[in-house]
Amino acid sequence: MSFRDGLEMTFEESSFGNFANRSSSKWRRYPADVLPMHVAEMDFEVAVEIREKLHDLITRSDLGYLGPIPELATAFEKYAHERWGWRIQKQNLKLATDVGVAAVEILRVVTKPGDRVLINSPVYSSFYHWIHEVGAVEHDAPLRLEGNSWRLDLAAIEQAFKSGVRVYMICSPQNPVGTIHSPQELQAISDLANQYGVLVISDEIHAPLSFDTFTPYLAIEGADKNGVVITSSSKAWNTAGLKAGFLIYQSDEVAKRIHGIPEAMHWRSSLLGAFAMTVAYDACDYWIDQTNARLEENLAHLRAEVEKHLPKAKLFDHSATYLAWIDLSAYQLAKPQAEILRHGVALVPGEDHAPGDEYSSFVRFNFASSKERISEAVRRMHSALESGN
Ligand SMILES: Cc1ncc(COP(=O)(O)O)c(C=O)c1O
Repeated sequence: MSFRDGLEMTFEESSFGNFANRSSSKWRRYPADVLPMHVAEMDFEVAVEIREKLHDLITRSDLGYLGPIPELATAFEKYAHERWGWRIQKQNLKLATDVGVAAVEILRVVTKPGDRVLINSPVYSSFYHWIHEVGAVEHDAPLRLEGNSWRLDLAAIEQAFKSGVRVYMICSPQNPVGTIHSPQELQAISDLANQYGVLVISDEIHAPLSFDTFTPYLAIEGADKNGVVITSSSKAWNTAGLKAGFLIYQSDEVAKRIHGIPEAMHWRSSLLGAFAMTVAYDACDYWIDQTNARLEENLAHLRAEVEKHLPKAKLFDHSATYLAWIDLSAYQLAKPQAEILRHGVALVPGEDHAPGDEYSSFVRFNFASSKERISEAVRRMHSALESGN
């Protein structure tokens, strides 16, 4: 079979293979008999157009430093406008090694050691590492559970701004709870940010994986004065190992605040990653639609399996991402993730997502896999939690 034949496998055929021969972190962290449902990678094939582009660059030995790449801003401009109605300013898109590096480089120039950065727990664990890397500390305005939905606490956010916090890192949509923040909530944040002089760093890496309407922060009126978006196609199109992301802003006010970020950030991102992003935004919107449909099916499957085999577990409303947030507190185990791991399923422990241990009886479950693997993981969780084995 030629390389091209492999590429022409349909989405259906290619998506549920045995991926254990992959060499990424997901497949190497635990022994082979552990089901890896922890790190945020999908068990799906990468879009054919992206693989073709990479193949082309590699076969032509076109693997030098990343130079100017106006194609990326053009592709993202089209994507952001068609998908979300957001008009970007192309000249203010700056490449970074990845989203983590974009966050750290911004934090480095807008905070000094000891400064507080607002976050909303439970949130992606690297937020804490990025903040600590620059010597700052997190200030938490935790999400509130309203009915079955994790929502921003606008009063707590305003209180934080009033108390002098001047940088806010929002996860939009939010990993791990799968919440899409509403335009009204984002408008309120932007208004408060302008009132109190706060810089809002909006991490939108999961945005294409939204099952309901997503609003980019910079599409909100007035947010241009206070916001910078950090993102990449790497999460939604499943190419995290390629190492490229970017930040984007759209006002002189924000340009001044983040002035001092090294020009070298561009050089520190990968040519393969940057061209993969260009192809993703330019030609692979259809792949996201297919993937979101699959993820919604998987989520329904996970809910049904959990209801059947883990009746005391609690899932929540979920509108984006493939990372389910599961409350296992009814099982009264101090560390359910550790017990589940002993039964052969790797999940991310809840306590990684908050400054304290209030979520140690929660787990994050990656459902971007086959239905078979999801069922098997839930069956093993049942043995760990329900049968006392
Ligand atoms: C919200 C969020 N931001 C950033 C990242 C990591 O992005 P990168 O690999 O580009 O640093 C992840 C990875 O899961 C994530 O969930």
